Amino acid sequence: MTETVAPAKPLLSVKAVHRHFQTAGRKLHVLKGIDLELEPEKLIMLKGRSGSGKTTLLNLIGGLDQPDQGEIYFRGNPFHKMRDEKRTEIRRKEIGFIFQSFALMPLLSARENVELAMRMAGTPRSQWKERALYCLDLVGLSRRINHRPFELSGGEQQRVAIAKAIAHRPNLILADEPTAELDSQMGAQVMAVFRKIIETEKITICMTTHDPTIMEVADHVFEMVDGRFIQP
Ligand SMILES: Nc1ncnc2c1ncn2[C@@H]1O[C@H](COP(=O)(O)OP(=O)(O)OP(=O)(O)O)[C@@H](O)[C@H]1O
Ligand SMILES: [Mg+2]
Repeated sequence: MTETVAPAKPLLSVKAVHRHFQTAGRKLHVLKGIDLELEPEKLIMLKGRSGSGKTTLLNLIGGLDQPDQGEIYFRGNPFHKMRDEKRTEIRRKEIGFIFQSFALMPLLSARENVELAMRMAGTPRSQWKERALYCLDLVGLSRRINHRPFELSGGEQQRVAIAKAIAHRPNLILADEPTAELDSQMGAQVMAVFRKIIETEKITICMTTHDPTIMEVADHVFEMVDGRFIQP
């Protein structure tokens, strides 16, 4: 008898997705038939000119928005036809977001910022302290836990944001230009942390970037041109 090995099930599948926006009486066709599969424990990057539709696609993948046509399955959940409340619940529990501008609460310490993320995700309070310290250690900030954002460098703030995004044990991290506000050394540090958390936390990361040196560490790079992926 021959044994067949089942292919790794995708964490997320995007099938023939279209998204339009209506502005000032004009219909803008932004995504024009996107197909994409994200496998577990991979680092995927989206590149493409400004306005090509990268952030629009990330918002759909993260369940923040829904397509006009096509299908999106996140761990088997049909995001394209789920009600807002149900999508929001899955997003809060299973997806983490990282933004270009860090999005930390200015009056809270690094540790409190990470704990806040767990509170929002519904993680039991009894786990907050230990998990926050673990995540901050993972991103190399165990000596900065009581610092507030303005007492941290840009690279350190982005690493707090990473600790915050992974604290509730999501399966997927979405990061929109996470290195754009960092110099190349800090950007490289953030990418090293991404690689480490993919391994230790068994997470998939899908991010956008314009930086060719950052793209070198990706498992797959997809290039978007005018709402479609082009073959490399
Ligand atoms: N809510 C919206 N309403 C109307 N138009 C929108 C909306 N969101 C995005 N767009 C338009 O869709 C296009 C794609 O935007 P998007 O933000 O996805 O681009 P991007 O590839 O992320 O660009 P950048 O590299 O500058 O971040 C742009 O022309 C933008 O103006
Ligand atoms: Mg964008």
